[in-house]
Amino acid sequence: MQIEEQNWFYSPTVKEHFFKPKHAWVKDKSPTGYDAYGFYGSMKCGDKMEMWIKVKKDKIVDLKWKTFGCASAIASTSMLATKIKKKSGMDIKKDLQITPMDIIKRLGGLPSIKIHCSVMGDKALQSAIYDYKVKNKREDLKVEKPEEEKH
Ligand code: FES
Repeated sequence: MQIEEQNWFYSPTVKEHFFKPKHAWVKDKSPTGYDAYGFYGSMKCGDKMEMWIKVKKDKIVDLKWKTFGCASAIASTSMLATKIKKKSGMDIKKDLQITPMDIIKRLGGLPSIKIHCSVMGDKALQSAIYDYKVKNKREDLKVEKPEEEKH
């Protein structure tokens, strides 16, 4: 049976990022040359997200991510990665500046049962910045290790 257009409840932007995810890492072996690594697992669905970041002068200048998650997780993280890479990168000294709600809006919405998937990239990013903080003894950074979902 084919998926009919009317049964497809994702926006065109979600579809675009799902079919052509940006800055995704799709190899088995982890990428090298990155400064920090983050991980987040969703107990709600059993999926997970990994992220690698490269930091220069306190800005994220490059990142890669890999997930064993669904279309919503892939599209949300692809959008997040696109936003971070735009301009000259995201400043790690400030609070996380791109919220899951921003991402959902930019994607043209997500089905309500898929909202938890949209935070996986955000949490993996938080985890990667926390890893950078610990590795570099940067107590000045406000970021904390993300809490696991309680479901
Ligand atoms: Fe697990 Fe979406 S259902 S990431």
